[in-house]
Amino acid sequence: MFLSIAVDGPAGSGKSTVAKAVAKNLGITYLDTGAMYRMVTLDVLRNKVSIKDMEAIKTLLDKIKIEFRTEGLFLNNDDVTTEIRNDVVANHVSDVAAIGIVREKMVAMQREIAKGQSIIMDGRDIGTHVLKDASHKFYLVASVEERAKRRLLEFEAQGIDMTLEELMKDIERRDGIDSNREINPLKQAHDAILVDTTKMTIEEVINFIMSEVNHA
Ligand code: CDP
Repeated sequence: MFLSIAVDGPAGSGKSTVAKAVAKNLGITYLDTGAMYRMVTLDVLRNKVSIKDMEAIKTLLDKIKIEFRTEGLFLNNDDVTTEIRNDVVANHVSDVAAIGIVREKMVAMQREIAKGQSIIMDGRDIGTHVLKDASHKFYLVASVEERAKRRLLEFEAQGIDMTLEELMKDIERRDGIDSNREINPLKQAHDAILVDTTKMTIEEVINFIMSEVNHA
């Protein structure tokens, strides 16, 4: 039996840090689905395509090459590991991720990757849609301020200059678009375990998920 673990939640709730660590502990594959939407967004920006121009978006999607290599994340053979985290991409990603044909293509790729192996995926629609039958589902939340503080620390470590206010605004704006879009919005799956991480350390969240997975 393969393990399939879904981790969803709003921006900056700690999903990717936690999912990465759990994957390492269990020796299973980790898939960062947000990075995939970020790569599509960068492709759209690089090609100066309007998000209203579905023909042009479709042409991009037909030839897009998204790869998770050991050395980093590659978009059409170009290492974009750092670039997809910048604020220009962050400002546009939720609008791009709301486009139906973008989601169709990404979800198909995600399900293809999940086939025949144990996997943990993090995103917005994993427990409700991509891995509806996942053996374990978690929905991570935290206050907006706490999430912005975490992002600030990550950005500071990378030398990226942004204020707490800017980060709070970005998080609230993206949460709004992600929760209100028509197709597979951000929502807790009815069978997901809610984890409020506001007052928890990353280690505590990882340990909680590990114990749920090991004892369920
Ligand atoms: O790391 P952070 O929480 O800031 O975001 P992310 O996981 O990198 O995702 C970036 C954006 O991609 C989100 O704000 C969503 O708009 C979109 N996304 C999505 O629509 N569905 C997913 N499964 C994952 C991300």
